[in-house]
Amino acid sequence: MSIHIGAKLGEIAELVLMPGDPYRAKWAAETFLDKPKCINEVRGMLGYTGSYKGMPVTIHGSGMGMPSLSIYVNELIRDYGAKRIIRIGSCGGMAEQVKLNDIVIAMTSSVASSKNKMIFGEIEYAPCADWRLLRKAVEAAEAGGITPHVGGIISQDTFYTHPEYPLDTLISHGVLAVEMETAALYTLAARLGARALTVLTVSDHLKTGEEMPSEQRERGFSHMVELTLEAALADAS
Ligand code: HPA
Repeated sequence: MSIHIGAKLGEIAELVLMPGDPYRAKWAAETFLDKPKCINEVRGMLGYTGSYKGMPVTIHGSGMGMPSLSIYVNELIRDYGAKRIIRIGSCGGMAEQVKLNDIVIAMTSSVASSKNKMIFGEIEYAPCADWRLLRKAVEAAEAGGITPHVGGIISQDTFYTHPEYPLDTLISHGVLAVEMETAALYTLAARLGARALTVLTVSDHLKTGEEMPSEQRERGFSHMVELTLEAALADAS
């Protein structure tokens, strides 16, 4: 047991998929894994371990935002020996070519949070995805007939933005989408010696104001989980 995870040692796989929503973790584990077993329920942050085509996999919620995700990622890597963590989440589209339900794979993430400032001071650290995982995810997406957007996103501490939010400046600098976790995941994985990736579906769009209806969200999420499991399998072989 760690402070926030009730699993016993050995109950968490070296591959962890992390949706923000713990109920999505439950749904994904029950839908895609063989013999899923609930290994964490502390504070309602559900985690399940099972296998996919013979590969042990844990699917564990991260909660919303970098502070929550950081707690789980620290403990998963340091206390349970997780080696590969793949966030599977949703994002707000920013760039014009990014449409609702599209897949975005984050090469890097800009950060609007005080966390990395406290660590790096004046240095603007660029949190970066694991290249091999990223390549395998792109290949798995393409094999399934999906062309993902691959590039930079932004992780920030707020979902609801201030009217002076520099949306157009970010778009004109190539930022594809916004979410609230990836910069912390990539920073921690680098520091603690694990490999990490974020795969996202676009659930809303900041420029157009569109939002995806919930049953369509479910379908998009399902494609994303499948392609991520296939990518992890290819990465392990
Ligand atoms: N902002 C931040 N995080 C998000 C969004 C958003 O619009 N959509 C999904 N995650």
